[in-house]
Amino acid sequence: MEFSSEFIDKLKSAKSVVFFTGAGISAESGISTFRGKDGIWNKLRPEELANFDSFMRNPDMVWEWYQYRRKIINDSHPNRAHLAIAESEKLFDKVSVVTQNVDNLHGRAGSNTIYELHGNIERNFCVKCGAFYNSADYNFTEQAPRCEKCGGLVRPDVVWFGEMLPQEVFAEAEKAAEWSDICFVVGTSAVVYPAAYIPLTAKKNGSYIVEVNIEETDLSGYADYSLFGKAGEILPEIMVVLKEIRS
Ligand code: OAD
Ligand code: ZN
Repeated sequence: MEFSSEFIDKLKSAKSVVFFTGAGISAESGISTFRGKDGIWNKLRPEELANFDSFMRNPDMVWEWYQYRRKIINDSHPNRAHLAIAESEKLFDKVSVVTQNVDNLHGRAGSNTIYELHGNIERNFCVKCGAFYNSADYNFTEQAPRCEKCGGLVRPDVVWFGEMLPQEVFAEAEKAAEWSDICFVVGTSAVVYPAAYIPLTAKKNGSYIVEVNIEETDLSGYADYSLFGKAGEILPEIMVVLKEIRS
């Protein structure tokens, strides 16, 4: 892939970068996206699963769905896109990952600064007393578990429809976006707010927006540079160029 000279100049001078990622970055790890051709929201209605009232009405059904997704995620591995982002920490002064994904694949790939806007499927908490339960430490069954301390229902620590994003995490992510020289927007339809404000905040503060996606999105019009193709192919190619620049 040939990159524009403007983009190469930006890579040369960039010190602080942010990667804003969505489900598309994990597609090549075998985890379904939400929208698009094979998206899970085509088959399941989000309002039936991903919200608090559904969980309280039918905790076992919602829990079973998350256990199913956990199994898929546990059996998957970070792909070349996650690894390229982790590796980029050696090539820029500061790298922040702002992700909408709950799959923890950035963490497993070795990224150090990760802002998880929509939570993490490996964590759970009690709806009554707030006690935390790591999936890895428990042999959870298909039924919604009960809190050891108070008997309340335990839910996955993910953001459901109608719920607030973790405010401190979001504030830190916005700061990273404001200070970035380049904001890479990778594998997201960029239609879910407030998460989708991140690249807009970056742009408003003078960051250079580089979109990596297999197709055009709502953000394409705002992006300074669009690279159409698979994240697992394009990001490693960017790293090759960057290594040449830095050597
Ligand atoms: P979407 O499913 O909306 O979008 C996935 C994007 O990835 C699409 O734009 C695809 O074109 C692109 N894509 C697919 N495969 C790709 C690949 N190999 N390389 C690059 N791009 C690829 O997922 P999100 O934007 O993450 O929210 O969705 C945002 C939020 O909607 C999710 O975090 C979730 C959902 O409701 C909550 O759970 C709160
Ligand atoms: Zn409890």
